[in-house]
Amino acid sequence: METQSRRKFLGSCLVGTAIAAVAAALYPLYRYLAPSQSGTGTAKVTFAATEVPEGEAKFFEYAGSTGVVVRTKGGLIALSAVCTHLGCIVQWEKDKQDFLCPCHAGRYTPEGTVISGPPPRPLPKLPLTQAEGKIIIG
Ligand code: FES
Repeated sequence: METQSRRKFLGSCLVGTAIAAVAAALYPLYRYLAPSQSGTGTAKVTFAATEVPEGEAKFFEYAGSTGVVVRTKGGLIALSAVCTHLGCIVQWEKDKQDFLCPCHAGRYTPEGTVISGPPPRPLPKLPLTQAEGKIIIG
């Protein structure tokens, strides 16, 4: 009788440990796949205009996603940094002055127009205004 009780207890411990291990392994996957809960809505993002010199890009969190501001010779442009192919975050390639998607080598101009690769659409533009030395997105 005591042996059966001990077996039952050890079995319960083993099942509990297995459940905890599976949960610990799956939680990072869940966090990666789940949409971001922060920054949704109409919040504005503001930063100093000096943070984006000509030829440079600045990435930021916007409305639960990632945006980017780039300053070209023609001025400032704010875009979604989410690739229109499968949703990877594009990278700014300063030496080439374009955006590269690292997932499938999609390329975009600084204005978000597709240059090459699989992206089906341009990067969406974000509303941008400037006032008193600040860049305001949203
Ligand atoms: S996800 Fe960007 S090119 Fe495929």
